[in-house]
Amino acid sequence: MAVFACGSASSSPGVTTTVLALACEWSRPVVIVEADPTAGSAILAGFFRGAVEPTGGLVELMVAQRQDQLADRLPSVLLPIPDSPVKVLPGIQTRAQGAGLESVWSPLLTALRDLDDTGTDVLVDAGRLPWTGALNPLVLGADVLLLAAGSHLPVVAKTRALAADLADQRPSGVGLLVIGPNRPYGVGEVAKALSLPAVGRIEWDPRAAAVYSQGGAPARHAERSAFRGSIRATGEAIRAFAEAARRPASPFLSIGGVR
Ligand SMILES: Nc1ncnc2c1ncn2[C@@H]1O[C@H](COP(=O)(O)OP(=O)(O)O)[C@@H](O)[C@H]1O
Ligand SMILES: [Mg+2]
Repeated sequence: MAVFACGSASSSPGVTTTVLALACEWSRPVVIVEADPTAGSAILAGFFRGAVEPTGGLVELMVAQRQDQLADRLPSVLLPIPDSPVKVLPGIQTRAQGAGLESVWSPLLTALRDLDDTGTDVLVDAGRLPWTGALNPLVLGADVLLLAAGSHLPVVAKTRALAADLADQRPSGVGLLVIGPNRPYGVGEVAKALSLPAVGRIEWDPRAAAVYSQGGAPARHAERSAFRGSIRATGEAIRAFAEAARRPASPFLSIGGVR
């Protein structure tokens, strides 16, 4: 199993949509962790349209952690997405709940790694990454950190400052996901500006994205859409990137990038 975190600079949206869409097309069972401390439980309100009974999620794990029972409690707070191999660990729902989060990330990472050694992966929705200060230990300890960025100049400029700061905290295993390439800059141009390897590109498609961000109905033939194709290709590229990051560095190793 592997732990993948995805986050962005402020002003660059699309993280939750991308994480959820990737999970729904993932090749193995996968757990999504809602770790954006500012977002509330976006998946409960968006994809599930507030229509499912929330589990205690991260809040329950904060309490369990105080009783040294986080790992035992973890399976019971995961919310399954019907007809899929995806489970969601719902995030906090009020700002006040964020106060106790720091104590949870490290034991949660350990518990996630022990969750299932038969191949369950973890996708962490880290939301907006902090502009200053330390990264959350779950993001710092993930096998791969994907920086999601749009392709227009204000977003690229903000993400560039964030990427430079991240390079000190996480010198390896960081890759770029471009959400909406060629609007106007291409993946290669964005990757060059950020000095990051381009791992994936997600096509810009508001209707397809709304299925994940707002629980909208999929369009006819959504299965064959460019958006869905880009999600599948990016999922494969992310897994290959993680594999390559796990292998010891070799001068002959080259990771297939996207253009
Ligand atoms: N690839 C995409 N194409 C078009 N719209 C998108 C795409 N990804 C996300 N969006 C839209 O952008 C908005 C913010 O998306 P969201 O995933 O909630 O961002 P974040 O989690 O980064 O705040 C939503 O309305 C969503 O439908
Ligand atoms: Mg979000």
